[in-house]
Amino acid sequence: MRLITRIGVLTGGGDAPGLNAVIRAVVKAAANAGIECLGLEDSFDGLIEPDRSRVLTPRDVTGILRLGGTILGTTNRGNPFAYPVTTSEGTRDYSTRVVEMFHKMKLGALVVIGGDGTLAIAHQFGQLGIPLVGVPKTIDNDIVGTTNCFGFDTAVAFATDAIDRLHTTAEAHKRILVVEVMGRYAGWIALYAGVAGGADAILIPEIPFDIDIVTQRLRERDEWGAKFSIVVVAEGACPKGGERSLIEAAHGAYAERLGGVGAHVCAALGLATGKETRSVVLGHLQRGGAPTSFDRILATRFGGKAVELIRKGEFGTMVAFDPPDIIARPLDEVVGRTKTVPMDFDVLTTAKSLGVTFGD
Ligand code: F6P
Repeated sequence: MRLITRIGVLTGGGDAPGLNAVIRAVVKAAANAGIECLGLEDSFDGLIEPDRSRVLTPRDVTGILRLGGTILGTTNRGNPFAYPVTTSEGTRDYSTRVVEMFHKMKLGALVVIGGDGTLAIAHQFGQLGIPLVGVPKTIDNDIVGTTNCFGFDTAVAFATDAIDRLHTTAEAHKRILVVEVMGRYAGWIALYAGVAGGADAILIPEIPFDIDIVTQRLRERDEWGAKFSIVVVAEGACPKGGERSLIEAAHGAYAERLGGVGAHVCAALGLATGKETRSVVLGHLQRGGAPTSFDRILATRFGGKAVELIRKGEFGTMVAFDPPDIIARPLDEVVGRTKTVPMDFDVLTTAKSLGVTFGD
């Protein structure tokens, strides 16, 4: 096996709290193993030109454990394989350029920290001969093969805090408060934050909802004397027989942007119940701020494991949380799939048993 003395690290896709904690762990673990770390800026774009990267020493990553965002920058423009790129050496095919620069920069391997899209791109580069290890990141928690992605716990903690705050004002005014959360096509954030925040209705993409069933549930609460209600809606939720709400359709290399369902649900519930209703979209607030201690530990373990896998030559893999262990999974078992909430998941079934409606 060839001895690796220099690796690159990059962050791709939407940011998530804990990215910097992974970078820090990778840099420190690598340095302690005699491996130099090159930080690549803005995902794979950092391999387009030599001036879009910098050597990272333990000194450079001191103090970033608790910081949200990513010191390397990121992009979620979509698949770079899909378009040519302008370089100082002319217009080139993106993937050819990345592979060429990987070798020119004398890198032995890459640590790719990203969500499903970035890991799929990494897998393609792996097939073009770049030795790499993936690290799963997303607040959506929708990557298969790992029970948790870092960022998810922080997003849930933020959304739960927001729901707590909305509870008091909802109760004071006897209103229905609708909270739209992120998650794309998976309902993990809505389910966890909804249960942790004591929501009365939780609408997730996995269960198309019937607004009449939600209305009925909220009316029952009024009858008991609870004159307010909290409804958590995942951005990817859609009504039975209806469509997902979009802010922007997919175009070029960009994926569609979900959003707006919270406002629709709010208006429909207002009409059906005659009560005052208000809606809030938590949006990118869920991606900002300091990672929770759970996410810091997970991210640190992921970073350390990624360096261990590189040293062992276990490429084409993704580090994964398989409690209580951090393990390696082949990337080709993971990419191109979405981990959604199973219908027999006990958090879901317990919530139902407590009377929370999912609109089904
Ligand atoms: O995948 C993370 C995520 O925050 C989703 O929950 C959300 O749909 C999407 O990214 C938003 O993307 P952007 O930051 O491009 O608006």
